[in-house]
Amino acid sequence: MILPQHQMEMAENSAKVSQLFGMCSALRSQGKNPVDLTLGNPLEKPLPAFYEALHEVAAELEREPDNPHRYMPNPGYLATREVMAQALSKRTHLDLKASDIWMIAGCANGLDVCLASLLAPGQEVIMLTPGFMEYARYIEQNQGIVRMVRSSTDWGIDHSALVAAINDQTQVLLLNFPNNPTGRVLEESELAALAETLTQIEKRRGKPILVLEDSPYDQLVFEDHLPSCLMRFYRHSIYMTSFSKSHGLAGERLGYMALHPEWGTPTERAMLETILTNNLRCRVINAPGIMQRVVARIGPAACVDLKGCEKRLRRLESALLKAGFRLKPAKGGFYIFAQLPPSISWEKWTDWALASDEPILSVPGPFFGGSNYADHVRFAVTVPEADIERACRRLENWDHDERSSHV
Ligand SMILES: Cc1ncc(COP(=O)(O)O)c(C=O)c1O
Repeated sequence: MILPQHQMEMAENSAKVSQLFGMCSALRSQGKNPVDLTLGNPLEKPLPAFYEALHEVAAELEREPDNPHRYMPNPGYLATREVMAQALSKRTHLDLKASDIWMIAGCANGLDVCLASLLAPGQEVIMLTPGFMEYARYIEQNQGIVRMVRSSTDWGIDHSALVAAINDQTQVLLLNFPNNPTGRVLEESELAALAETLTQIEKRRGKPILVLEDSPYDQLVFEDHLPSCLMRFYRHSIYMTSFSKSHGLAGERLGYMALHPEWGTPTERAMLETILTNNLRCRVINAPGIMQRVVARIGPAACVDLKGCEKRLRRLESALLKAGFRLKPAKGGFYIFAQLPPSISWEKWTDWALASDEPILSVPGPFFGGSNYADHVRFAVTVPEADIERACRRLENWDHDERSSHV
Protein backbone atom coordinates (compact mmCIF):
# COMPACT_ATOMS: atom_id res chain seq x y z
CA MET A 1 0.00 0.00 0.00
CA ILE A 2 1.47 3.34 -1.02
CA LEU A 3 -0.47 5.57 1.36
CA PRO A 4 -0.66 5.21 5.16
CA GLN A 5 -3.76 3.33 6.37
CA HIS A 6 -4.75 5.87 9.00
CA GLN A 7 -4.56 8.74 6.49
CA MET A 8 -6.86 6.80 4.16
CA GLU A 9 -9.32 6.22 7.00
CA MET A 10 -9.29 9.93 7.85
CA ALA A 11 -9.86 10.75 4.17
CA GLU A 12 -12.90 8.43 4.12
CA ASN A 13 -14.37 10.22 7.13
CA SER A 14 -13.74 13.65 5.70
CA ALA A 15 -15.34 12.52 2.42
CA LYS A 16 -18.62 12.23 4.36
CA VAL A 17 -18.23 15.80 5.54
CA SER A 18 -17.37 17.09 2.05
CA GLN A 19 -20.37 15.21 0.65
CA LEU A 20 -22.63 17.02 3.11
CA PHE A 21 -21.11 20.40 2.40
CA GLY A 22 -21.18 19.74 -1.36
CA MET A 23 -24.91 19.00 -1.32
CA CYS A 24 -25.85 22.63 -1.71
CA SER A 25 -24.34 23.03 -5.16
CA ALA A 26 -25.84 19.67 -6.23
CA LEU A 27 -29.30 20.91 -5.22
CA ARG A 28 -28.78 24.23 -7.00
CA SER A 29 -27.87 22.42 -10.19
CA GLN A 30 -31.26 20.64 -9.92
CA GLY A 31 -32.94 24.07 -10.00
CA LYS A 32 -33.64 24.18 -6.25
CA ASN A 33 -33.05 27.09 -3.92
CA PRO A 34 -31.55 25.54 -0.78
CA VAL A 35 -31.09 27.19 2.61
CA ASP A 36 -27.63 26.04 3.58
CA LEU A 37 -27.29 26.00 7.37
CA THR A 38 -24.34 23.60 7.43
CA LEU A 39 -21.12 25.65 7.52
CA GLY A 40 -20.21 28.42 9.96
CA ASN A 41 -18.57 30.61 7.35
CA PRO A 42 -18.54 34.22 8.62
CA LEU A 43 -21.18 36.28 6.79
CA GLU A 44 -20.52 39.76 8.17
CA LYS A 45 -17.86 41.76 6.34
CA PRO A 46 -14.94 43.24 8.29
CA LEU A 47 -15.50 46.74 9.67
CA PRO A 48 -14.73 49.76 7.40
CA ALA A 49 -11.77 50.41 9.76
CA PHE A 50 -10.24 47.17 8.49
CA TYR A 51 -10.22 48.34 4.87
CA GLU A 52 -8.90 51.77 5.87
CA ALA A 53 -6.05 50.14 7.77
CA LEU A 54 -5.41 47.78 4.84
CA HIS A 55 -5.03 50.79 2.50
CA GLU A 56 -2.77 52.60 4.95
CA VAL A 57 -0.59 49.53 5.48
CA ALA A 58 -0.33 48.91 1.72
CA ALA A 59 0.72 52.53 1.11
CA GLU A 60 3.29 52.42 3.91
CA LEU A 61 4.77 49.14 2.71
CA GLU A 62 5.06 50.48 -0.82
CA ARG A 63 6.91 53.56 0.43
CA GLU A 64 9.45 51.57 2.47
CA PRO A 65 12.84 51.62 0.79
CA ASP A 66 13.78 48.11 2.00
CA ASN A 67 11.71 45.02 1.30
CA PRO A 68 9.18 44.88 4.16
CA HIS A 69 7.93 41.44 3.03
CA ARG A 70 11.03 39.50 4.03
CA TYR A 71 11.06 36.74 6.63
CA MET A 72 10.20 37.91 10.13
CA PRO A 73 10.79 36.26 13.51
CA ASN A 74 8.71 33.04 13.49
CA PRO A 75 6.36 34.10 16.35
CA GLY A 76 5.46 37.28 14.42
CA TYR A 77 6.09 41.03 14.50
CA LEU A 78 7.01 42.29 17.95
CA ALA A 79 4.68 45.30 17.68
CA THR A 80 1.71 43.05 16.84
CA ARG A 81 2.50 40.63 19.66
CA GLU A 82 2.65 43.58 22.07
CA VAL A 83 -0.84 44.69 21.04
CA MET A 84 -2.22 41.16 21.61
CA ALA A 85 -0.41 40.80 24.95
CA GLN A 86 -1.92 44.06 26.19
CA ALA A 87 -5.44 43.11 25.16
CA LEU A 88 -5.26 39.65 26.74
CA SER A 89 -3.65 41.02 29.91
CA LYS A 90 -6.68 43.26 30.42
CA ARG A 91 -9.05 40.32 30.10
CA THR A 92 -7.11 37.87 32.24
CA HIS A 93 -5.60 40.29 34.79
CA LEU A 94 -2.26 38.62 34.02
CA ASP A 95 0.89 40.47 33.05
CA LEU A 96 1.42 39.06 29.56
CA LYS A 97 4.34 40.28 27.46
CA ALA A 98 5.01 40.06 23.72
CA SER A 99 7.28 37.10 24.50
CA ASP A 100 4.20 35.15 25.72
CA ILE A 101 2.46 35.54 22.33
CA TRP A 102 2.83 33.65 19.03
CA MET A 103 0.95 34.86 15.97
CA ILE A 104 -0.64 31.86 14.22
CA ALA A 105 -2.43 31.16 10.95
CA GLY A 106 -5.77 30.73 12.75
CA CYS A 107 -6.67 28.41 15.61
CA ALA A 108 -6.43 25.38 13.32
CA ASN A 109 -2.72 26.12 12.95
CA GLY A 110 -2.32 26.95 16.66
CA LEU A 111 -3.92 23.67 17.72
CA ASP A 112 -1.67 21.70 15.41
CA VAL A 113 1.46 23.51 16.66
CA CYS A 114 0.51 23.03 20.32
CA LEU A 115 -0.43 19.37 20.00
CA ALA A 116 2.82 18.66 18.14
CA SER A 117 4.67 20.43 20.95
CA LEU A 118 2.94 18.85 23.94
CA LEU A 119 2.19 15.25 22.96
CA ALA A 120 4.31 12.13 23.10
CA PRO A 121 3.03 9.29 20.88
CA GLY A 122 0.11 7.49 22.55
CA GLN A 123 -0.71 10.21 25.06
CA GLU A 124 -4.35 11.09 25.47
CA VAL A 125 -6.17 14.30 24.72
CA ILE A 126 -9.56 14.91 26.27
CA MET A 127 -12.11 16.70 24.14
CA LEU A 128 -15.59 17.50 25.35
CA THR A 129 -18.63 16.44 23.37
CA PRO A 130 -20.62 17.71 21.69
CA GLY A 131 -17.56 19.33 20.16
CA PHE A 132 -15.68 20.32 17.03
CA MET A 133 -14.78 17.09 15.31
CA GLU A 134 -11.71 18.41 13.51
CA TYR A 135 -10.03 18.09 16.92
CA ALA A 136 -9.84 14.33 16.40
CA ARG A 137 -7.91 14.94 13.20
CA TYR A 138 -5.44 17.38 14.80
CA ILE A 139 -4.88 14.98 17.72
CA GLU A 140 -4.37 11.90 15.56
CA GLN A 141 -2.11 13.74 13.11
CA ASN A 142 0.11 14.44 16.12
CA GLN A 143 0.11 10.82 17.31
CA GLY A 144 -2.25 11.43 20.21
CA ILE A 145 -5.24 9.38 21.29
CA VAL A 146 -8.65 11.06 21.40
CA ARG A 147 -10.67 10.61 24.57
CA MET A 148 -14.17 12.04 24.35
CA VAL A 149 -15.91 13.17 27.53
CA ARG A 150 -19.56 14.13 27.50
CA SER A 151 -20.49 17.62 28.65
CA SER A 152 -23.03 18.07 31.42
CA THR A 153 -26.69 18.19 30.40
CA ASP A 154 -26.54 22.00 30.24
CA TRP A 155 -23.47 21.70 27.96
CA GLY A 156 -21.04 22.79 30.67
CA ILE A 157 -18.28 20.73 32.34
CA ASP A 158 -19.25 17.41 33.93
CA HIS A 159 -16.55 17.30 36.60
CA SER A 160 -17.06 13.69 37.60
CA ALA A 161 -16.99 12.49 33.97
CA LEU A 162 -13.83 14.54 33.43
CA VAL A 163 -12.09 13.17 36.51
CA ALA A 164 -13.11 9.61 35.59
CA ALA A 165 -11.58 9.98 32.12
CA ILE A 166 -8.17 11.07 33.38
CA ASN A 167 -5.41 8.48 33.64
CA ASP A 168 -1.62 8.42 33.54
CA GLN A 169 -1.62 8.88 29.79
CA THR A 170 -3.76 12.04 29.87
CA GLN A 171 -1.69 14.97 28.72
CA VAL A 172 -4.03 17.63 27.32
CA LEU A 173 -7.54 18.91 27.90
CA LEU A 174 -9.02 20.77 24.94
CA LEU A 175 -11.61 23.42 25.76
CA ASN A 176 -13.81 25.38 23.38
CA PHE A 177 -16.07 28.09 24.78
CA PRO A 178 -18.14 29.77 23.34
CA ASN A 179 -18.74 26.31 22.04
CA ASN A 180 -19.21 24.95 18.56
CA PRO A 181 -21.90 23.51 18.31
CA THR A 182 -23.82 24.41 21.51
CA GLY A 183 -23.17 28.17 21.87
CA ARG A 184 -22.44 27.59 25.58
CA VAL A 185 -20.20 30.10 27.37
CA LEU A 186 -18.44 29.27 30.65
CA GLU A 187 -19.09 31.73 33.47
CA GLU A 188 -16.20 32.91 35.59
CA SER A 189 -17.33 30.77 38.54
CA GLU A 190 -17.34 27.69 36.29
CA LEU A 191 -13.82 28.46 35.07
CA ALA A 192 -12.61 28.85 38.65
CA ALA A 193 -14.26 25.53 39.60
CA LEU A 194 -12.61 23.78 36.64
CA ALA A 195 -9.22 25.22 37.63
CA GLU A 196 -9.79 23.87 41.13
CA THR A 197 -10.62 20.37 39.83
CA LEU A 198 -7.51 20.40 37.61
CA THR A 199 -5.32 21.55 40.50
CA GLN A 200 -6.62 18.69 42.65
CA ILE A 201 -5.86 16.23 39.86
CA GLU A 202 -2.35 17.62 39.54
CA LYS A 203 -1.77 17.16 43.28
CA ARG A 204 -3.06 13.59 43.14
CA ARG A 205 -1.08 12.38 40.17
CA GLY A 206 1.98 14.62 40.51
CA LYS A 207 1.84 16.14 37.02
CA PRO A 208 -0.47 18.73 35.51
CA ILE A 209 -3.06 18.37 32.79
CA LEU A 210 -2.11 20.85 30.06
CA VAL A 211 -5.06 22.90 28.86
CA LEU A 212 -5.51 24.22 25.33
CA GLU A 213 -8.24 26.83 25.17
CA ASP A 214 -9.42 27.03 21.59
CA SER A 215 -11.51 30.23 21.57
CA PRO A 216 -12.14 31.46 18.02
CA TYR A 217 -15.68 32.56 19.04
CA ASP A 218 -14.67 34.40 22.19
CA GLN A 219 -15.75 37.83 20.98
CA LEU A 220 -19.00 36.56 19.51
CA VAL A 221 -21.00 36.69 22.72
CA PHE A 222 -24.43 38.23 23.08
CA GLU A 223 -23.69 39.83 26.42
CA ASP A 224 -22.10 43.17 27.20
CA HIS A 225 -18.83 41.70 28.47
CA LEU A 226 -16.31 39.27 27.00
CA PRO A 227 -16.19 35.88 28.68
CA SER A 228 -13.17 35.19 30.83
CA CYS A 229 -10.78 32.35 30.11
CA LEU A 230 -9.30 29.48 32.08
CA MET A 231 -5.82 30.95 31.72
CA ARG A 232 -6.82 33.51 34.33
CA PHE A 233 -7.21 30.73 36.92
CA TYR A 234 -4.91 27.94 35.76
CA ARG A 235 -1.26 28.32 34.87
CA HIS A 236 -0.74 25.20 32.76
CA SER A 237 -2.71 26.64 29.90
CA ILE A 238 -2.29 27.96 26.42
CA TYR A 239 -5.05 30.23 25.17
CA MET A 240 -5.68 30.79 21.48
CA THR A 241 -8.07 32.81 19.40
CA SER A 242 -8.29 34.00 15.82
CA PHE A 243 -9.71 36.84 13.76
CA SER A 244 -11.56 34.40 11.50
CA LYS A 245 -14.95 34.87 13.12
CA SER A 246 -14.65 38.04 15.22
CA HIS A 247 -13.20 40.15 12.39
CA GLY A 248 -14.75 38.23 9.47
CA LEU A 249 -11.28 37.25 8.20
CA ALA A 250 -11.46 33.44 8.01
CA GLY A 251 -9.77 33.35 4.59
CA GLU A 252 -6.88 35.56 5.69
CA ARG A 253 -5.64 33.13 8.38
CA LEU A 254 -4.59 35.10 11.44
CA GLY A 255 -4.86 34.54 15.17
CA TYR A 256 -2.61 34.35 18.18
CA MET A 257 -1.82 32.03 21.03
CA ALA A 258 -0.60 32.92 24.50
CA LEU A 259 1.39 30.84 26.94
CA HIS A 260 0.69 31.49 30.62
CA PRO A 261 3.63 33.53 32.03
CA GLU A 262 4.03 31.06 34.91
CA TRP A 263 3.73 27.85 32.92
CA GLY A 264 5.97 25.13 34.44
CA THR A 265 9.39 25.85 35.91
CA PRO A 266 11.44 28.61 34.23
CA THR A 267 13.51 25.93 32.47
CA GLU A 268 10.44 24.00 31.29
CA ARG A 269 8.85 27.19 30.10
CA ALA A 270 11.93 28.30 28.17
CA MET A 271 12.06 24.85 26.56
CA LEU A 272 8.38 25.00 25.59
CA GLU A 273 8.89 28.46 24.04
CA THR A 274 11.60 27.01 21.81
CA ILE A 275 9.50 23.97 20.93
CA LEU A 276 6.43 26.06 20.02
CA THR A 277 8.55 28.32 17.84
CA ASN A 278 10.18 25.33 16.11
CA ASN A 279 6.84 23.70 15.40
CA LEU A 280 5.35 26.93 14.11
CA ARG A 281 8.36 27.33 11.81
CA CYS A 282 7.94 23.75 10.51
CA ARG A 283 4.29 24.37 9.71
CA VAL A 284 3.85 27.92 8.38
CA ILE A 285 7.19 29.72 9.03
CA ASN A 286 5.13 32.63 10.33
CA ALA A 287 1.54 33.89 10.27
CA PRO A 288 0.57 36.20 7.34
CA GLY A 289 2.53 39.47 7.68
CA ILE A 290 0.22 42.05 6.10
CA MET A 291 -2.67 40.84 8.25
CA GLN A 292 -0.47 41.10 11.35
CA ARG A 293 0.13 44.77 10.58
CA VAL A 294 -3.51 45.51 9.77
CA VAL A 295 -5.05 43.74 12.76
CA ALA A 296 -2.52 45.32 15.14
CA ARG A 297 -3.63 48.71 13.81
CA ILE A 298 -7.39 48.20 14.25
CA GLY A 299 -6.94 46.16 17.42
CA PRO A 300 -8.02 42.66 18.38
CA ALA A 301 -11.33 44.02 19.72
CA ALA A 302 -12.53 45.45 16.38
CA CYS A 303 -15.25 42.83 16.14
CA VAL A 304 -17.89 42.83 13.40
CA ASP A 305 -21.38 43.96 14.40
CA LEU A 306 -23.09 41.05 16.14
CA LYS A 307 -26.64 42.38 16.00
CA GLY A 308 -27.47 40.70 12.69
CA CYS A 309 -26.04 37.37 13.81
CA GLU A 310 -27.95 37.42 17.08
CA LYS A 311 -31.18 38.40 15.30
CA ARG A 312 -30.88 35.49 12.87
CA LEU A 313 -30.02 33.12 15.69
CA ARG A 314 -32.98 34.13 17.87
CA ARG A 315 -35.35 34.02 14.90
CA LEU A 316 -34.31 30.49 14.00
CA GLU A 317 -34.32 29.35 17.63
CA SER A 318 -37.90 30.50 18.01
CA ALA A 319 -39.04 28.79 14.77
CA LEU A 320 -37.32 25.56 15.85
CA LEU A 321 -39.03 25.70 19.24
CA LYS A 322 -42.40 26.21 17.53
CA ALA A 323 -41.68 23.19 15.34
CA GLY A 324 -41.14 21.03 18.44
CA PHE A 325 -37.32 21.03 18.66
CA ARG A 326 -35.78 21.47 22.11
CA LEU A 327 -32.78 23.70 22.65
CA LYS A 328 -30.86 25.87 25.06
CA PRO A 329 -30.54 29.41 23.65
CA ALA A 330 -26.99 30.05 22.42
CA LYS A 331 -25.00 32.61 24.41
CA GLY A 332 -22.41 33.07 21.71
CA GLY A 333 -21.16 31.89 18.31
CA PHE A 334 -22.86 30.99 15.06
CA TYR A 335 -24.71 27.82 15.92
CA ILE A 336 -27.85 26.23 17.35
CA PHE A 337 -27.57 22.64 18.57
CA ALA A 338 -31.16 21.48 18.77
CA GLN A 339 -32.77 18.21 19.80
CA LEU A 340 -35.21 16.79 17.26
CA PRO A 341 -38.89 16.74 18.24
CA PRO A 342 -39.90 13.52 20.04
CA SER A 343 -40.44 10.62 17.61
CA ILE A 344 -38.72 12.43 14.72
CA SER A 345 -35.50 10.74 13.67
CA TRP A 346 -32.68 12.34 11.65
CA GLU A 347 -33.94 10.44 8.59
CA LYS A 348 -37.48 11.75 9.01
CA TRP A 349 -36.14 15.25 9.57
CA THR A 350 -33.95 15.25 6.46
CA ASP A 351 -36.63 13.57 4.34
CA TRP A 352 -38.90 16.49 5.14
CA ALA A 353 -36.18 19.16 5.13
CA LEU A 354 -34.97 18.13 1.66
CA ALA A 355 -38.39 17.42 0.10
CA SER A 356 -39.00 20.93 -1.17
CA ASP A 357 -37.85 23.43 -3.76
CA GLU A 358 -36.34 25.21 -0.75
CA PRO A 359 -34.47 22.35 0.95
CA ILE A 360 -32.98 23.05 4.40
CA LEU A 361 -29.47 21.68 4.92
CA SER A 362 -28.18 21.00 8.44
CA VAL A 363 -25.49 18.86 10.11
CA PRO A 364 -26.34 15.61 11.95
CA GLY A 365 -25.58 15.57 15.69
CA PRO A 366 -23.22 12.54 15.53
CA PHE A 367 -20.72 14.76 13.68
CA PHE A 368 -20.12 16.36 17.09
CA GLY A 369 -19.40 13.29 19.18
CA GLY A 370 -20.98 10.10 17.89
CA SER A 371 -24.26 8.31 18.42
CA ASN A 372 -24.97 10.05 21.74
CA TYR A 373 -26.11 12.97 19.64
CA ALA A 374 -28.13 11.01 17.06
CA ASP A 375 -31.21 13.03 18.04
CA HIS A 376 -29.51 16.41 17.60
CA VAL A 377 -28.98 18.71 14.64
CA ARG A 378 -26.63 21.68 14.21
CA PHE A 379 -27.77 24.79 12.36
CA ALA A 380 -25.36 27.61 11.43
CA VAL A 381 -26.84 31.09 11.01
CA THR A 382 -24.13 32.51 8.76
CA VAL A 383 -26.54 33.06 5.87
CA PRO A 384 -28.52 36.21 4.97
CA GLU A 385 -31.62 37.02 7.00
CA ALA A 386 -33.82 36.27 3.97
CA ASP A 387 -32.54 32.67 3.96
CA ILE A 388 -33.21 32.31 7.68
CA GLU A 389 -36.75 33.61 7.00
CA ARG A 390 -37.28 31.01 4.29
CA ALA A 391 -36.17 28.24 6.68
CA CYS A 392 -38.38 29.64 9.47
CA ARG A 393 -41.45 29.84 7.24
CA ARG A 394 -41.02 26.21 6.30
CA LEU A 395 -40.45 25.14 9.90
CA GLU A 396 -43.52 27.05 11.05
CA ASN A 397 -45.60 25.19 8.48
CA TRP A 398 -44.22 21.79 9.42
CA ASP A 399 -47.50 20.79 10.94
CA HIS A 400 -48.24 17.44 12.41
CA ASP A 401 -50.19 16.13 9.38
CA GLU A 402 -47.29 16.83 7.10
CA ARG A 403 -44.93 15.30 9.64
CA SER A 404 -46.85 12.07 9.83
CA SER A 405 -46.86 11.82 6.04
CA HIS A 406 -43.03 11.69 6.23
CA VAL A 407 -42.96 9.09 9.00
C1 LIG B 1 -14.15 25.24 17.47
C2 LIG B 1 -13.30 25.66 16.33
N1 LIG B 1 -11.98 25.68 16.47
C3 LIG B 1 -11.17 26.06 15.47
C4 LIG B 1 -11.68 26.43 14.24
C5 LIG B 1 -10.73 26.87 13.18
O1 LIG B 1 -10.74 28.26 13.14
P1 LIG B 1 -9.59 29.16 12.52
O2 LIG B 1 -10.16 29.81 11.31
O3 LIG B 1 -9.26 30.12 13.60
O4 LIG B 1 -8.45 28.26 12.20
C6 LIG B 1 -13.06 26.42 14.04
C7 LIG B 1 -13.63 26.78 12.73
O5 LIG B 1 -14.79 26.69 12.45
C8 LIG B 1 -13.90 26.04 15.11
O6 LIG B 1 -15.24 26.02 14.99
